This record gives sequence, structure tokens and C-alpha cells, in this order.
Amino acid sequence: MRVLITGGAGFIGSAIQDIYLQAGHEVAILDNFAAGNPAYVHPHSRVYQADLRESNLVWQIFQDWQPEVVSHHAAQIDVRQSVAEPVADAQINILGSLNVLEAAAQMGVKQFIFASSGGACYGELQQIPAPETHPLQPISPYGIAKVTMEHYLHFYYQVHGLCYGILRYANVYGPRQGITGEAGVITAFMTALLTGQTPVIYGQGTQTRDYVYVDDVAQVNLQILGRLEPLTLNIGTGQETSVLALYELIQKLMPSKISPQFLPKRLGEITRSALDVTRARETLGWQAQTSLTQGLQATLDWYRQVLN
Ligand SMILES: NC(=O)c1ccc[n+]([C@@H]2O[C@H](COP(=O)([O-])OP(=O)(O)OC[C@H]3O[C@@H](n4cnc5c(N)ncnc54)[C@H](O)[C@@H]3O)[C@@H](O)[C@H]2O)c1
Repeated sequence: MRVLITGGAGFIGSAIQDIYLQAGHEVAILDNFAAGNPAYVHPHSRVYQADLRESNLVWQIFQDWQPEVVSHHAAQIDVRQSVAEPVADAQINILGSLNVLEAAAQMGVKQFIFASSGGACYGELQQIPAPETHPLQPISPYGIAKVTMEHYLHFYYQVHGLCYGILRYANVYGPRQGITGEAGVITAFMTALLTGQTPVIYGQGTQTRDYVYVDDVAQVNLQILGRLEPLTLNIGTGQETSVLALYELIQKLMPSKISPQFLPKRLGEITRSALDVTRARETLGWQAQTSLTQGLQATLDWYRQVLN
């Protein structure tokens, strides 16, 4: 299939690019390289350097590439930044996303895959692990933008027949991850420990997250490709891990032991998170294959290489 991946030079988008190319699909990337890295772009990918907010440019790219599928992964991904500057966040994550969605509908794209967030859409969880039917009560502008785009996708499906695959990711981690993202804590711990700095824990470290390895996320993106039915799926492991437990696991993989520094809890962040992934298993036969220890080891090996 002919795919356009927005944010394809980023952490998750570039992993999806790799698995799509390997499976024989044609890939183009739309990215402004605000956080993306040109080194992550595969030589077989077509690259369009553009900003989501430039609607004319987005439109031209659609006319040039004529994608059958859009995988929308470009975003401002920093939750705290969205709290500090909600207007700027909405300009990228709502209006910019809408430019892509509108072009996709007008150009007759068959499927729109959207990177949503299971960590941010549900807000404080009333049920753990949370199923897709959990109320959507985001407590950050970042989460509000994800929920808003999900509503738009439903509208474009109803009115224009554009099929969607909404993937509500848990905390994705792995090689190539930047420090500001939702699961940036793993990157932050590893880079601090490898460079002899003191890692920081915000709050008491009792907050929990569901950590899913990036290769498992790329795999589900392959399995959902070309499914022409509206789907909303949680993508995680269903396991809760506290930040303190995560820190201990990472420390076990490292030779040096350093005590973390504790700073006040950050705004807009939820207390506990884990996603019920039964629907993804039943619909696509997908389930995360990488244990947290295996994923952390692979991530650490990668950071050791790039920091050397
Ligand atoms: N990492 C996670 O744990 C996680 C969890 C839930 C959802 N998500 C979502 O997955 C997607 C990918 O996240 P990631 O962790 O790979 O982040 P990332 O920052 O590595 O990738 C985002 C990419 O989008 C590009 N981008 C940003 N603003 C842009 C703009 N205005 N125009 C064009 N390109 C722009 C960046 O340059 C970058 O390459 C995002 O939509 C994010 O919200 C991530």
C-alpha cells in the first residue's frame, strides 16, 4: 500500500516506517523535524519536510504522493508543554491534525490510522486496567486534543466514509525515544545514569504506567494496515509499573548505583495507568511480545551505543 506517515522521522513513526518498508509497502514521510531526526528516515522513504499547520503545503503533498493510507503520528507530544501553552498545543495537535484529516478525506484516502493516547484520553482511571469503553476525561490539553481528534475521525467516517484505526497507546518506550514524551522517563533515567548524573523522580514515584515496547507498537500498526472498518484499540500490556519499580529494574541492568532526586509532582499527569488490551487481541490477534526487562535491556544497549 501507499502510505503517508506524518511524524515519520520521530520515535514511533520511524519504527512504523521500517516495518512497513520491510513488508513491501511504499512510504512517504511528512515531518517538520521539530523533534524528528533525519538519521531515522530510511533511504527508501520519500520525505516531505513540512509543518502540519501549513494547510496548502499539506494539500500539495497529498496531491503529489496520493496516499491510500495515512498514519498520523506527528504531534506536539509534551504534556507539560500543552499545560503551559494550550493554544500553541491546539494549533498543532488539533488544527494541524485537522489539515491532514481534511486533505485525506478530500483525496479519497481509504484508511486513517491515528496515534491517540490511552495514558492521556481517560484521565484519572476509575477502572484498572481501563477498557476502551472507559469515560474519556482528559486532564491535559494534550489529552483533550487526542479526544477531539477521535471525535473528528468519527465525523469523517460518518460523513465522508473515511475509515479509521485509532490506536490508544500506553507509554511507548525503546530506541530512538526523545526525553520529553509520555514515556520519556525511561530515556531520562538511562541517559542520566549513563552520564553519571542524578536521575529525577517527580512526586513520590508511586505513580504507575503501562510500558509497551516500540517494536510491539510497530507490529500492531502493520496488523491494522488496510483494515477498512472503524476500530478503536488500546495498545499496551495491561501491566502497571510504578516509577520506583521501573527505576529499580533499570538500576539492576546498570553497573553503577545512584539514588534518585525527588521533585514535586508535575501538573496534568495522572496517578495510575494501565490499559485493557483484550479488544486488540480479539480483533487483530495482537499482543505485546516483549517483556519489560527485555525491552529495557534493548533500549539500554541502544543508549550505550549512541552516547559513546
Ligand atoms: N511515546 C509515547 O509513549 C506515546 C504515547 C501515546 C501517544 N503517542 C503519540 O504517538 C505519536 C508519536 O509520538 P513519538 O513518541 O514518536 O514522538 P516524537 O516527538 O518522536 O515524534 C513526533 C514527530 O512529529 C514531528 N512533528 C511535531 N510537530 C510537527 C508539526 N507541526 N508538523 C510536522 N511534524 C511535526 C516531530 O518532528 C517528530 O518527528 C504522537 O502523536 C504522540 O502523541 C506517543
